[in-house]
Amino acid sequence: MTTDLQQTQIEELITSALSQRRFSYAPYSGFRVGAALLAENGRIYTGCNIENAAYTPSNCGERTAFFKAVSEGVRSFRAICVTGGKQEEPSGFAAPCGVCRQVMMEFCDPDSFLIILARSVEDYEIHTLKELLPMGFGPADLA
Ligand code: THU
Repeated sequence: MTTDLQQTQIEELITSALSQRRFSYAPYSGFRVGAALLAENGRIYTGCNIENAAYTPSNCGERTAFFKAVSEGVRSFRAICVTGGKQEEPSGFAAPCGVCRQVMMEFCDPDSFLIILARSVEDYEIHTLKELLPMGFGPADLA
């Protein structure tokens, strides 16, 4: 698809997300996720998944990135890159879980927010939030 992201921005997001996987704390699943969230202000907020022995307190990489940004007063976003897998280099695309899609729905425009699923800088696909969360329920429904 065509996007208003520059190629250099796409590559920076993928590189940041892949590099963030090194901080993933995933001793239970072994599935290491790295995310890189591009805010409207141009800053990139990174995140990784953080698991827990009690399992349910675990947090996904995407939500770590969102919560870092929102906790610093940033609420406008353009795109997120998600990378993940059990191998050193991701063998497949790691699509955001339903909970993470819902968190995106809270802060992002479903028609324009872009989700980059990447295996490498050369191998990625781009979707809108609306494609991954059709008929999503969000703040506009409560207005
Ligand atoms: N995970 C993410 O970080 N993001 C997703 O959207 C899907 C799943 C993490 C959660 C858990 O630590 C591991 O991947 C396996 O589910």
